[in-house]
Amino acid sequence: MKFILSFLFLASVQVATAADDRSSQSLDRLAFGSCNLQLLSQNYYGTIQKFSPQAWIWAGDAVYTDHFPMFMRKLAFQKVKKSKSYRSLMASTEVMGTWDDHEYAANNQGGEYKHKNKTKKLYLDFIGVPAGDIRWSRDGIYWSKTYGPADQSVKIILLDTRYFRDKKQIGKKSQDGFLGRDQWDWLVSELLVDPAKLTFVVSSSQLISNQEGQDDSWSGYPEERLRFLDLAAVSQSHIVILSGDRHYAELAKIDHGGKTFWEFTASGMTHTDKKAPENPLRVDFALRKRNFGLVDVQWDAQNRPQVTVSAKSPKDGKDWFKRSFQPN
Ligand SMILES: [Fe+2]
Repeated sequence: MKFILSFLFLASVQVATAADDRSSQSLDRLAFGSCNLQLLSQNYYGTIQKFSPQAWIWAGDAVYTDHFPMFMRKLAFQKVKKSKSYRSLMASTEVMGTWDDHEYAANNQGGEYKHKNKTKKLYLDFIGVPAGDIRWSRDGIYWSKTYGPADQSVKIILLDTRYFRDKKQIGKKSQDGFLGRDQWDWLVSELLVDPAKLTFVVSSSQLISNQEGQDDSWSGYPEERLRFLDLAAVSQSHIVILSGDRHYAELAKIDHGGKTFWEFTASGMTHTDKKAPENPLRVDFALRKRNFGLVDVQWDAQNRPQVTVSAKSPKDGKDWFKRSFQPN
């Protein structure tokens, strides 16, 4: 309850803000993916385009550039952008994204990375962020966009889980060592002051999945993970989490504060791991095959959202798994 009161207080002192961007067009279908090794073939984006998503979201590790000098990181992003099939996807689909460690700096790196503003410029160029966008002038690359009419509004929230991360706070009682204070204030406002009917929160690191030994994720910051769940529980929005990073795909869910939260992890566009560790929150199984995620939104007569998620093969678009649920 203490958390809830502090959220409400924070919300009340915020100036009521709109989302960072807004479109009157409704959002019915998006696709997302993560973990794309640019040295491997980049000819599979046509498979994603075949499904005509209205948005393509990079959920981290769009390229692997650990310890690269900046000119080589730039070349890695260019390699993806020069791919004919990626250019075709970009021409037909809105592209957005957030980073994870491997395109940001190197394995498990956070706020301590001293060239983070240089990578930020490369990354914003990579996803085509226009001049004047708020991300060019504020710290980090977190961002939101709301689509559609008020009674069927869909918001995409892209979290930045790298720029502000304080590794010294791992396992401590920190409330903002993972997202940073400014991003938390913004997130509270997005979910409480200006909620959409349905919100997709994109976090490169898995969020609800709380696994021992996974310090490079929300699991390393348990108080902050709890803070997110408390916030999501009091938001008027139906919230679904999308994540990457793991080199396998899975669905997980957790009950918290009277709501059920689903997390869809799609990871491994070009490569996957041989093993997937146990996850007590996992629904069904961990998919250790190359994948991207497709998400469809439908509305019932009471304007309640129904979400269908599927993990698909980048090779031919076939479904690896598919499930529908009503987020509450
Ligand atoms: Fe990765």
